Amino acid sequence: MKTKIDQVLITEEEIQAKVAELGKRVTHDYQGRTPLLVCVLKGGLIFMADLVRHIDLPLEVDFMAVASYGPETQSSGVVQILMDLEVNIEGRDVLIVEDIIDSGHTLQYITQNLRTRNPQSLRICTLLDKAARREVEIPLDYVGFVIPDVFVIGYGLDYQEHYRNLRYIAVLKPEVHR
Ligand code: IMP
Ligand code: MG
Repeated sequence: MKTKIDQVLITEEEIQAKVAELGKRVTHDYQGRTPLLVCVLKGGLIFMADLVRHIDLPLEVDFMAVASYGPETQSSGVVQILMDLEVNIEGRDVLIVEDIIDSGHTLQYITQNLRTRNPQSLRICTLLDKAARREVEIPLDYVGFVIPDVFVIGYGLDYQEHYRNLRYIAVLKPEVHR
């Protein structure tokens, strides 16, 4: 299973410390409110599960699944909702929980779509930010780690649906996906 891994980029300990810190910030920023955390499946699954346990507030969770089309490891900006939210977000304080922002196309589509449903507030929390690859500008409210332009796997992130269960974030060997 480890043969396609080049190197560990972020260790389990570093991830856990960062998630705890982000949870504290969210707890502080949403005092007196009941945020609705929207997990973008499937990549956001592990991050969401850990993050909510570091938020000391009443909160709700919901899930959304999208597909972005393009070549294997690139997103084109064509996004389709595979599974929509269950909850009506009108008037809610919505916090989107994402694994990684790359070109930004997927998140731009999601935020534009959710905004039309009139939430009270809409913020973004992403574990990873591949900032150098951004093609559309998106204000990010909570960012775990800014990472270089490498393809990463683990802690929810996949390569062809595998490796989501790694407890750390690793770089895929470049020859695997180029
Ligand atoms: P964007 O639309 O280009 O921002 O792409 C966002 C989506 O592409 C993420 O939600 C991931 O599913 C996927 N993605 C982008 N970079 C990586 C990576 O390095 N590893 C795994 N998935 C990635
Ligand atoms: Mg993915």
